[in-house]
Amino acid sequence: MNGVPRLTRGDILRWLKENDRVRLAQLWEWADAVRHEFVGDEVHLRGLIEFSNYCSRQCAYCGLNARNADVARYRMSADEILACAHQAVGFGYGTVVLQSGEDYGITREWLGDVVRRIKAETPLAVTLSVGERTEGDLAYWKDCGADRYLLRFETSNRALYDRIHPPRAGIYSDRPALLRYLRSIGYEIGSGVMIGIPGQTYEDLADDIELFRELDLDMIGVGPFLPHEKTPLGKEEEQLWAPLGEQVPNSELMTYKVVALTRLVCPYANIPSTTALATVNTKNGRELGLKRGANIVMPNVTPPQYREKYEIYPAKACIRETAGMCHQCMKHRIESIGRQIGKGRGDSPNRTIRRD
Ligand code: 5AD
Ligand code: FES
Repeated sequence: MNGVPRLTRGDILRWLKENDRVRLAQLWEWADAVRHEFVGDEVHLRGLIEFSNYCSRQCAYCGLNARNADVARYRMSADEILACAHQAVGFGYGTVVLQSGEDYGITREWLGDVVRRIKAETPLAVTLSVGERTEGDLAYWKDCGADRYLLRFETSNRALYDRIHPPRAGIYSDRPALLRYLRSIGYEIGSGVMIGIPGQTYEDLADDIELFRELDLDMIGVGPFLPHEKTPLGKEEEQLWAPLGEQVPNSELMTYKVVALTRLVCPYANIPSTTALATVNTKNGRELGLKRGANIVMPNVTPPQYREKYEIYPAKACIRETAGMCHQCMKHRIESIGRQIGKGRGDSPNRTIRRD
């Protein structure tokens, strides 16, 4: 195969609405072939460290939102994070992802020190996923050695975005702009969306996929919206649904369609088979994601006493497992579909191409 024919917005929309099994089987096959050709058969592992569940924001979908008083809040110490990073090295991972709520108790200097220590003591690539911080913070962490930044824009529909993200006083939220800034100062950038947000239409989702292309993302993570009862979007009957026939379902099938289309539109991107997908299909959601366009998994290395408190959505996969159990589980799943565990850091193929 030489290149991928450019999918128009109309093509994307038609595929999102496609329900014929034979046609969909062709889509999976096409996405898998493009994945094989552009990013190969290696599946890179990123060790996820959920190091703080404090959050100052009130995202209407997220179980960690500041209003949820039922969450027992924690912050891991720098030494605890370092121990997780060393454990990730022991498992052969090339990257750790430091993820937290938007926690202003995490200062620029403190997180900068943690990044510096990881970079000094290990060969790991460091990805940060700590929300919308100031340009000063982001640049400081880059100087400390951070390599990548994850910030999902969640939806490209501005009205829907505003409805589910109450603003911080006086600060305008523009995640695509922040992603472009992150890229301009040298980060690899990752983003993504939720699928099936109440009020999200097929047109919105087609726009999301077009925005993936436009932002030229290095990593793109998508997963189904999963209602959490302790959040404003958790009660079905109270939602502003899109008109009948236009509302995107938050289904497993729709997630595969988006993974596959994302691979076709952004052939060099790193695309994870996400925990949310593994949550809607505990049996083989991860494997099916990997067979329909994805090339990355993010095994959780957070210590068990903390991970059960990081309940973004209910029944989250891996919540009771240890890092060792997740490692074995992922290894088994990857090998069961005839793929290999990636070696090295798994840097963005997109970047390498862009630099050439
Ligand atoms: N359902 C699915 N995904 C969610 N996220 C947050 N809350 C939910 C939910 N209820 C996703 C968001 C966020 C990522 C860390 O988790 O996309 O960016
Ligand atoms: Fe955690 Fe399967 S990856 S239990």
